[in-house]
Amino acid sequence: MCGIVGYIGPKSVDSVLLVGLTRLEYRGYDSAGIAVLDSGELQVRKEKGKIKDLERLLQAHPVEGNIGIGHTRWATHGEPNRKNAHPHVDTHKRIAVAHNGIIENHFELKQELVREGHVFHSDTDTEVIPHLVEEELKKGMEIEAALFNTIQRLRGRYAFVLLYEKDPSRIFFARDGSPLVYGHGKGESFLASDVPAIVPAALEHYVIENQQWGWVTRDELHLLDYGKQSVGFELKKIEMNVQDLDKGGFDHFMLKEIFEQSGVMRGIINERIAEGGKVVFGEKNNSNEFLSRLSRIIITSAGTSWHAGLVGKAYLERFAKISTEVDLSSEFRYRNPVAEGDTKVLAISQSGETADTIASIYEAKAKFIRVLSFVNNTSSTIARESNSFIDLKAGPEIGVASTKAYTAQLMNLLLYALFLAGVKWILDKDERMRIFDEIRRIPDQIDQILSRADVIRQWAADFRETKDFVFLGRSFNYPTALEGALKLKEVSYIHASGYAGGEFKHGPIALITDEVPVVCITPQGEIYEKMISNIEEVRARKGKIISIHTEGDEKVPGMSDYSFGIPQCSELISPILAVIPLQLLAYYVAVERGCEPDQPRNLAKSVTVE
Ligand code: F6R
Repeated sequence: MCGIVGYIGPKSVDSVLLVGLTRLEYRGYDSAGIAVLDSGELQVRKEKGKIKDLERLLQAHPVEGNIGIGHTRWATHGEPNRKNAHPHVDTHKRIAVAHNGIIENHFELKQELVREGHVFHSDTDTEVIPHLVEEELKKGMEIEAALFNTIQRLRGRYAFVLLYEKDPSRIFFARDGSPLVYGHGKGESFLASDVPAIVPAALEHYVIENQQWGWVTRDELHLLDYGKQSVGFELKKIEMNVQDLDKGGFDHFMLKEIFEQSGVMRGIINERIAEGGKVVFGEKNNSNEFLSRLSRIIITSAGTSWHAGLVGKAYLERFAKISTEVDLSSEFRYRNPVAEGDTKVLAISQSGETADTIASIYEAKAKFIRVLSFVNNTSSTIARESNSFIDLKAGPEIGVASTKAYTAQLMNLLLYALFLAGVKWILDKDERMRIFDEIRRIPDQIDQILSRADVIRQWAADFRETKDFVFLGRSFNYPTALEGALKLKEVSYIHASGYAGGEFKHGPIALITDEVPVVCITPQGEIYEKMISNIEEVRARKGKIISIHTEGDEKVPGMSDYSFGIPQCSELISPILAVIPLQLLAYYVAVERGCEPDQPRNLAKSVTVE
């Protein structure tokens, strides 16, 4: 949450910062601001709202210069208004700071600084940083020592960039807990929360580690650790396609990413399934000996990634025969999990920066449990803090509501379960081949679903005024019901709840009236008849039925007010297909209601606070 960026080089800093911030807007969009050294003077421009609001402010009150820092905010401390927008400055407005994270001891620090005569301008935790540096400078310290002494006093998680009016050729920084990347281009340097903010101008990058600090000039990075020692580092080439970062003709990233899912599936299948049906995970992994002994898996993840974990449990238990638990990351660390036998933790995260999931990895490692993460960002904190990681290979996901990363998580978990089954020699060849044939059909089946997206678009107007939705699914598709409900509520702001079909009569059925649409995920398979009973129960109470069924089903469409067929597939593949019409439903209803699906209110894509 919150995106930070810094630039020093030959270009006009305001436009470089605006591009960088726009690319980081998925991290928060409550307010935005920049600080620039303009003819040697520190100038700050900040505005409530989105980057385009800041852009309007800059048109009215321009700044010029070649060095500056910027910030896009997801509010933690203090209302999302202009006063609390970053960058924040010291009493005499010579030091500006843009920060991502939380300074937990800000209250005590602020009290102390106020006693020393510092004047605070905002309600944020961040503002203590420029004031602490100012205080150190007042004592006669050089800027480097002032920054180092400041860092020693901070508790919490942070990455920040700092501009000092009297030092116009350096941007200072420190990282402990929140992400920060250094980028190097032709005679220019960048600092940013994430790589998309600095491409294509930055050609190489280095991911700053926790407890590192220093400064950048136009040409280089000067890196130190918290023991004040210089640190060596290796710059790596940036491999990122700029086309992946724009909407490619779609109205929103969310729709573009929904439509990218067949391509993502093809990529994963080509990469992971070798000739002869062997599953390959090229990443550093545990020894086969350890994997074949594995008797317990604990999955830890949040939100949509947690839903993927629930499907993953079904895959791991069905194919690899390994007892699997799924925990919300935010709960895992508080339940003091028992570490016994040959256990492994799987952490699932699109961003790789979710604070709760990071905390649960530390908890697992403290108990000597090995952690394998499934991440979409391989230079993220989660990838680096895990013992090994698997790249989800969904490509950059920019829409705040996760879509293609979810189906990529399901596919990778399915293949990982088959991989473990292979290591344990427990799946016979015919069954393996049958499953691989099915998996290879998935991309075309997704294309078929997407070619009928218009059917769902036409439903959307009927739900413009709807207040509540219920989603029902069973077995493999209980998580699909949860995910469908989450997608709808986060982008359209309609209240929606997902339930296991079998639980419906134990309470939630009380919600049903003729005003409550009930989405019933009813593919052919073991649970089919039971889901029909759910449909009957809703119809008896005059609820509206929206069904997702298997193509060719002759019963369910006739019982439904709205129905959408997914291609024939086995029940275990159905969560990958059935979620796509639900993503489309959420998207089109949001657009119909005038909501902004790429940037839902109060949300941010990387949840870097616990
Ligand atoms: C919902 C959504 C969130 C994330 C959750 C975990 O559409 O995107 O629920 O799934 O915040 O994020 P990651 O996967 O980045 O750990």
